Amino acid sequence: MVDGEDRLVYASEPWPLEEVQVGAPIFDLVPAEFVGPYREALHQARTTGETQAITARGPRPEHGPDAMGWFRAFYFPIRDDLMGGFGVDITEMVEAREALSASRARLVAAGDQARRRIERDLHDGVQQQLITQLMSLRLVSGLVFSDPARAVEMVEDLIRDVEETVDVVRDVARGIHPAALTQFGLVAALQSLAARSTLEVALRCEVDRRLPEAVEIGAYFLCAESLTNVAKYAGTCRCSVSTTLAEDTLRVEISDEGVGGAEVTRGGGLEGIRDRIEALHGELLVSEASPHGTRIVATIPLAAGMTAPES
Ligand SMILES: Nc1ncnc2c1ncn2[C@@H]1O[C@H](COP(=O)(O)OP(=O)(O)OP(=O)(O)O)[C@@H](O)[C@H]1O
Ligand SMILES: [Mg+2]
Repeated sequence: MVDGEDRLVYASEPWPLEEVQVGAPIFDLVPAEFVGPYREALHQARTTGETQAITARGPRPEHGPDAMGWFRAFYFPIRDDLMGGFGVDITEMVEAREALSASRARLVAAGDQARRRIERDLHDGVQQQLITQLMSLRLVSGLVFSDPARAVEMVEDLIRDVEETVDVVRDVARGIHPAALTQFGLVAALQSLAARSTLEVALRCEVDRRLPEAVEIGAYFLCAESLTNVAKYAGTCRCSVSTTLAEDTLRVEISDEGVGGAEVTRGGGLEGIRDRIEALHGELLVSEASPHGTRIVATIPLAAGMTAPES
């Protein structure tokens, strides 16, 4: 509560009354850049007689003497010379919203980056090869009657070139979605991933059906990233991967008995994976394994608003 001259009359929990000076100007408690908005809200409440609300930063005494946070603060007149006010601490909500928009921005950036890579791969690889083949075809068409033997030779070369281009297209597409994942589902894709890995992977998959596409892709990329990380950092050549379905939630666990120390770092592969999983309302936990090593667990609800692709 403040008096007619904006001096503190009373403060309730969590304000430590012995520290908050009764009689001190209320704005001494507020960060300098927000004094204006607080003063204006108080003034409006006093002159209009109506409750005023603002969103601004303010102290969080229960989190330490210098802790600051975000508040929805309300001011209302009690009597002519007495104003009441209270603040709802919305710091966690604001931080969660900031984290969400940061993660969305990173997802968009990752999507843009992937698109640029595909564009470059298509331009530098596929397009150049197709143009060369087109020119060869034009040449061949002029030789069919005048030099059939040469034409046949060129067509044979062309067949080899086209086969090569098909491989390039397959590689570009594989960078987007692994073929096994799209065609045969998560289990087959993980088997193929494990078979291609330089690690000895103990794979246990208890998933007997196709899952929503985004869930399969999220789980697949998590495993791909984690296996690469184990090979790069864990100092072991073994790891285990398990996938289980329970109560419409997919659980994926990748663990190794290596040196440990994995963490989600800014700009690292695991951060991108965590963004992807959280965008599906799932959760990614990175922890130490017992007795040593790394354990990564993701839980992804299937009801992420996606439809399962045809089996
Ligand atoms: N299985 C693991 N064992 C030990 N350390 C790990 C393991 N996985 C990750 N780490 C550590 O955690 C860090 C973060 O991993 P993350 O995959 O996010 O990034 P990165 O591998 O360094 O970069 P990028 O994925 O972009 O190549 C790694 O730099 C590494 O130090
Ligand atoms: Mg990595």
